[in-house]
Amino acid sequence: MSIRRLPESLVNRIAAGEVVERPASALKELIENALDAGAQAVSIALRQGGLGGVCVSDDGHGMSRDDLPLALERHATSKLPDEAIEAVRTLGFRGEALPSIGSVSQLTISSRQATADGWRLICDNGVLGSVTPCAMAPGTRVEMDGLFERVPARRKFLRSARSEYAACLDIVRRLAMARNDVAFVLEHDGRRVFSLPDGQTREDRVAQLIDRELADNHVVVSLEREDVTISGVASLPTYHRGSADHQYLFVNGRPVRDRLLVGAVRGAYADFIARDRHPVLALFLTVPMADVDVNVHPAKTEVRFRDPAFMRGMIVSGLRRALDAAGMRVANRPEASAAELWQREDAAMAPQAWPQPSPGGAYGGASLLGDRQARFTGFAPSGRAEVPAPEREAERGEFPLGVARGQVARTYIVAEAEDGLVLVDQHAAHERLVLERMRRALADGAVARQALLLPEVVELDEPACDRIEARASELAELGLEVERFGPAAILVRAAPALLGASNVTGLVRDLADDLASLGDAASLKARLDLVAATMACHGSVRAGRVLSVTEMNALLREMEVTPHSGQCNHGRPTWIKLAHGDIEKLFGRH
Ligand SMILES: Nc1ncnc2c1ncn2[C@@H]1O[C@H](COP(=O)(O)OP(=O)(O)OP(=O)(O)O)[C@@H](O)[C@H]1O
Ligand SMILES: [Mg+2]
Repeated sequence: MSIRRLPESLVNRIAAGEVVERPASALKELIENALDAGAQAVSIALRQGGLGGVCVSDDGHGMSRDDLPLALERHATSKLPDEAIEAVRTLGFRGEALPSIGSVSQLTISSRQATADGWRLICDNGVLGSVTPCAMAPGTRVEMDGLFERVPARRKFLRSARSEYAACLDIVRRLAMARNDVAFVLEHDGRRVFSLPDGQTREDRVAQLIDRELADNHVVVSLEREDVTISGVASLPTYHRGSADHQYLFVNGRPVRDRLLVGAVRGAYADFIARDRHPVLALFLTVPMADVDVNVHPAKTEVRFRDPAFMRGMIVSGLRRALDAAGMRVANRPEASAAELWQREDAAMAPQAWPQPSPGGAYGGASLLGDRQARFTGFAPSGRAEVPAPEREAERGEFPLGVARGQVARTYIVAEAEDGLVLVDQHAAHERLVLERMRRALADGAVARQALLLPEVVELDEPACDRIEARASELAELGLEVERFGPAAILVRAAPALLGASNVTGLVRDLADDLASLGDAASLKARLDLVAATMACHGSVRAGRVLSVTEMNALLREMEVTPHSGQCNHGRPTWIKLAHGDIEKLFGRH
């Protein structure tokens, strides 16, 4: 076959394959165009998650009559005046979004410049109509209907209206977060999802878009180094979620997805937060144009940094400083009172068996606890022990995990077994017990549930509510009785009895995150470990909770009779034992 030049319509369709994958990707291009046009207000209306249609209106500078057909021409852009892609400050610059969208849908563009009349142009699956007059306020309105109607091969890759809506909402959120100076209104199927005023502070905007509770639970990030700045909002270590989906990164005002962020955030919070929990944050990097390449992806959702290590360092330092300023940093040296706490305990707690805290080493027992010591943050260092009832003494021999002697850092149970010293990670152990209890209960029928005295209303965004609702019957089997309560809330009527008086709101929120990561396929029973871990997180035995000796012993006894209780759901040990011989070695006694 001889080589031929492809007709423009086909070229556009090929480009559309990269730029327009689903309604959300077209929506992204349209909102970006509105922002590039200097809009102060952007209004978005979606039908059926964008499958039924997408409409974006703005009050930006508009287009002239002559510009309308050009906007639909490939590689026609007003945004690269001096051919310097490196210097581009607009969100768009490739000049291919509108022709791509227009080649696979029916696209209607109406536009008016402030001092001129309004004009309209329709592009029906690549076929341009003629420009006709239209009455409208200054600005631009772009409507996209029937996406992929003429491209059945692409249409079948579209997901349900529910999933497409979730993707659209994510796009609007990111762009609205990037531009807190611009007003945004989002409507879905005729219903107002949100209306964000212009000129909101960044903190307010981010909190309104992610979670209102963030407004009271955040630190402000602000750091400048060389000519790079980082600013933004990050949650306190005590406010976290079950997935990293609520972490947003912006580079020079452009929302980007970058693996760099995940690692850097984990690094910054490593000492403060359990590994399976994730802070919520929105970080804005301002970087000299020469240090970042924005033209690495047709959808412009990724960037390439000249010096990624430096950027990672900026994110870690920015977050660290903000967290330090909030007083969350672990004290490296124990306060005098902590040392006293130990000494005030009953003298029967033979001091020679317990290394005394010295001013140089927190908890003294660093060799036992290793580098995890740094995780015990947010609490003043505290050791606590209670005198066991005398009859317990005799029982020590019968129990492999021994008798509880106390609790360290509100996280570890210290127990004395006949042959040594046992340390239990109370949270990891409890997580495991919950999983095993649920497995047993499911095998026996259903998990016991406890009705809430007052049903609890949990506010969540619509896609999260959809996900919970779709799994309601599976959740009911696990003891969680939920029902939809309006578009953006879930009503909880009963919770699994084995969780005790737990934080139902946090539980439902985290389950929604879990379900997002699970996708549509897996059954909850098949991923019971995930659900159990989340439930256990909201159960009574969190890390950081003071336990009584009775509670500690109850946990130890249950661990002894529960299969697989030696490892947590993520494969880490739930307890370790230091045999008497090992302790003697530590003290050079042998
Ligand atoms: N909402 C709008 N208001 C004013 N002008 C617009 C609007 N949307 C598009 N245009 C004009 O149409 C041109 C083409 O838009 P299109 O999105 O196809 O390309 P681009 O934004 O220049 O680059 P990219 O393909 O990277 O998005 C733009 O350069 C701009 O001049
Ligand atoms: Mg564009």
